[in-house]
Amino acid sequence: MTLIETVKELRAWRKAADRVYFVPTMGALHEGHATLIREARKMAGPDAQVVASIFVNPLQFGPNEDFDRYPRTLETDLAICQEAGADMVFAPAVKEVYHHDRSIQIHETSLSNVLCGASRPGHFDGVCTVVAKLFNFVQPDDALFGKKDYQQLAIIRRLVRDLDFPVDIHGIDTVREPDGLAMSSRNRYLTPAERAQAPALRAALLKARDAWLTGVTGTRRLLEIIHYYLADEATLGRKDYISIVDRDTLQPLDLVQNNGLIALAVFFDKARLIDNIELVR
Ligand code: PAF
Repeated sequence: MTLIETVKELRAWRKAADRVYFVPTMGALHEGHATLIREARKMAGPDAQVVASIFVNPLQFGPNEDFDRYPRTLETDLAICQEAGADMVFAPAVKEVYHHDRSIQIHETSLSNVLCGASRPGHFDGVCTVVAKLFNFVQPDDALFGKKDYQQLAIIRRLVRDLDFPVDIHGIDTVREPDGLAMSSRNRYLTPAERAQAPALRAALLKARDAWLTGVTGTRRLLEIIHYYLADEATLGRKDYISIVDRDTLQPLDLVQNNGLIALAVFFDKARLIDNIELVR
């Protein structure tokens, strides 16, 4: 596996490569990322190349968010990429990606106004800008993103559609701990007591989906089920949002016939956890 840190070297590498499958990350890799790389390896077969990027993108962190303390674990990350089957890792420094006087960035105007975007202004503009730049650097044919960040996935599909990137986007199922907690680099911020309550997020989503599968289509009732469950089982958590939306447009629904998504974000003391579940037949 090759490690590349400059755009110049990356461009030379790309000229020699044929088809590329790409997994962008911010590092602090866990089994969720390893699964994305393994899936990319499966899709790529022996002939195409698998590239992962590791870049903690300052543009997608708000002023009071965890950019400075976001875990940076390059050595371990490289070992995980190698084990999962990456051919190349692109790990640039901030100054390699952003000019000090940069003055252009992407602004998404619809899908970012809800869910996480509502409480993290500018976050998805930062994500879109860096993903567009990474696509320009790496020039992948395919890119893989986890469904845990479902809003991000929907926005990147829109980015690719609206700005005509010739990249096929693949959404990959969330990888979970045995007790159901979605894997996340931020789980390490949980205290033992919070960690014990965190699986309640997934359990609440499953309860609501079970109700939907037995015919409850009204979102008010489905939301009540989640609220009551979390009020009992996640007493250390504080709700940021719980919403039921169309899974493509992310617009709120009153009734879910099909194509729904329940998404939630809950603050524990130092960790803000997100999770979601699709309501599709
Ligand atoms: O999901 C992430 O890790 C980041 O948002 C991404 C897509 C790598 C952009 O920085």
